[in-house]
Amino acid sequence: MIQPPTDMSDQVIIRFADVHKRFGSLVVLDGLSLAIPADRTTVIIGPSGAGKSVLLKHIVGLLQPDQGSVYFHQHCINELSERQLEPIRKRIGFLFQMGALFDSMSVGENIAFPLRHQGLNSERDIQRIIGEKLAVVGLSGSEKKMPGDLSGGQKKRVALARAIAMDPEVVLYDEPTTGLDPIRADVINELILKLKEELKVTGIVVTHDMASAFKVADQIVMLLNGKIIAQGTPEQIKTMENEDLRHFIEGRANAEDLKALHRL
Ligand SMILES: Nc1ncnc2c1ncn2[C@@H]1O[C@H](COP(=O)(O)OP(=O)(O)OP(=O)(O)O)[C@@H](O)[C@H]1O
Ligand SMILES: [Mg+2]
Repeated sequence: MIQPPTDMSDQVIIRFADVHKRFGSLVVLDGLSLAIPADRTTVIIGPSGAGKSVLLKHIVGLLQPDQGSVYFHQHCINELSERQLEPIRKRIGFLFQMGALFDSMSVGENIAFPLRHQGLNSERDIQRIIGEKLAVVGLSGSEKKMPGDLSGGQKKRVALARAIAMDPEVVLYDEPTTGLDPIRADVINELILKLKEELKVTGIVVTHDMASAFKVADQIVMLLNGKIIAQGTPEQIKTMENEDLRHFIEGRANAEDLKALHRL
């Protein structure tokens, strides 16, 4: 077993230490090491299939590394049983890529779901928390609405209210702005900033949306072929001389991408 890194400072809340993950012959994470600082927002960028969602799933123990370790504070996530993971999962909110709400449940019941699951049974407390979280995401008074009556942006905000229902220390946002128009996307960006500033939430945001990345990130990490190929502050990333990074953030196809197109 790999020992917890000795340089783990108080400010690091999550750490990947030489994580390898493959599915069959497909190598997805190839010796990935990454420190996530507390109370900051780390943005993970990278092409489709790079392993961004896989990386997030390791943090809550939905996937286990084949080799290497993932730490949350001093806990080695991949050595914990499902039962030991429960209290840790409470401390981490997950806004899933598909953000799915339960369509047959009202907005309020969607937000109540994790609370009831965690054993909270005071109806008064549940209703209070629903009201508080809807206020945070700017949807006060929407408790009784059904998901089918909401716009895409509103659904994302309800999913975010659900992800923060348990007052998590960390929120994992998997493509929170995908599919939203620029204005609705910016509402989500502002929420990510607000959660960090007002509630001291540590954020990990996976996105393809570079405007969002530059707006919310304290650090940006680019994943490619299972490895980190660039890491830095938004300012550093903007000027970093790395061909793959430049192609990605400028949205330009390279010769290889175009060759694939000609083969079609
Ligand atoms: N449970 C699984 N079983 C088999 N293969 C998987 C599994 N989960 C992910 N993969 C594969 O691992 C690779 C990385 O997947 P992942 O979902 O992390 O990509 P991503 O970077 O999030 O991409 P996108 O930007 O499209 O969401 C993909 O090729 C995917 O098909
Ligand atoms: Mg993904």
